[in-house]
Amino acid sequence: MGCTDADYAYLRELVLEQSANLIDPSRNALFDTKLTPIAKSAGVASLRDFVNLLKNDQPPHLHRAVAEAMTINETSFFRDVKTFNLLRDILLPQLVERRREERRLRIWSAASSTGQEAYSLAILLAEHLPETTSWDVRIFGSDISRKVIEYARAGRYGRLEINRGLPARMLLKYFHRDKEEWEINPRLRAMCEFYPVNLCTPPPSLPTFDLVLLRNVLLYFSQEDRSHVFHTVYQRMADDGYLLLGNAEQAEGSTDLFETEFSSESFFYRPVVRT
Ligand SMILES: C[S@@+](CC[C@H](N)C(=O)[O-])C[C@H]1O[C@@H](n2cnc3c(N)ncnc32)[C@H](O)[C@@H]1O
Repeated sequence: MGCTDADYAYLRELVLEQSANLIDPSRNALFDTKLTPIAKSAGVASLRDFVNLLKNDQPPHLHRAVAEAMTINETSFFRDVKTFNLLRDILLPQLVERRREERRLRIWSAASSTGQEAYSLAILLAEHLPETTSWDVRIFGSDISRKVIEYARAGRYGRLEINRGLPARMLLKYFHRDKEEWEINPRLRAMCEFYPVNLCTPPPSLPTFDLVLLRNVLLYFSQEDRSHVFHTVYQRMADDGYLLLGNAEQAEGSTDLFETEFSSESFFYRPVVRT
């Protein structure tokens, strides 16, 4: 038996509560596609029964699994080339200049999905700011979905992923081919670490970041949840750090936290200095 409108409404509410992702009712069919395999592995015959299990037994691992399965993990290497030009030409050189004494950089690819964003940053540093190869540089990738975190940790990509955004010269220089997959160079992989982190409830142990990429995730959040995440990110940033959002996103409603700047045809954000 198929789900009722009330079942879908329950699933939407569950996803919102677990991950802050808003799912439009026009996308109800996605619940069927994405949750049926989870229902099967939980031993129930239909999505309807699965909803009843979720409601009655309240199993936290299955609640989490539903939220994770409903995430949109679309990403690619050097996604939004103008953003990476801004990083290459302005933001990273400035940060490197300012951190020359400490020789230390902390970067956060918040909502990293399968890791292409974090590895693109590692490639950019190796390629254009090679002095940082002897620095203490850590690129933290985090995502609510444990599945994509496992994928990112492996640092192995198939042909379709490699063909999206990665220049051939960089493929040859920074990847090693293993049968049908390409594996990121171990030195670059060692710069990156990936953790499951829910942006709504991040652990207090996160370091202070010089650069945060929070791209193409907040567009699925309500204004209230976006503000909450901006607060969290602000608290985790160095005073002279930079924040980058996706092309379709703005730090609207957070002008008390971030000043907007525009350069190289892209917006970026600086934390308002704490008094
Ligand atoms: C569209 S991808 C963007 C990936 C990458 N930042 C980019 O721009 O290419 C959005 C990612 O956000 C993650 N996500 C969604 N809600 C989240 C939350 N509450 N906490 C952490 N990550 C979340 C999803 O799992 C997904 O991998």
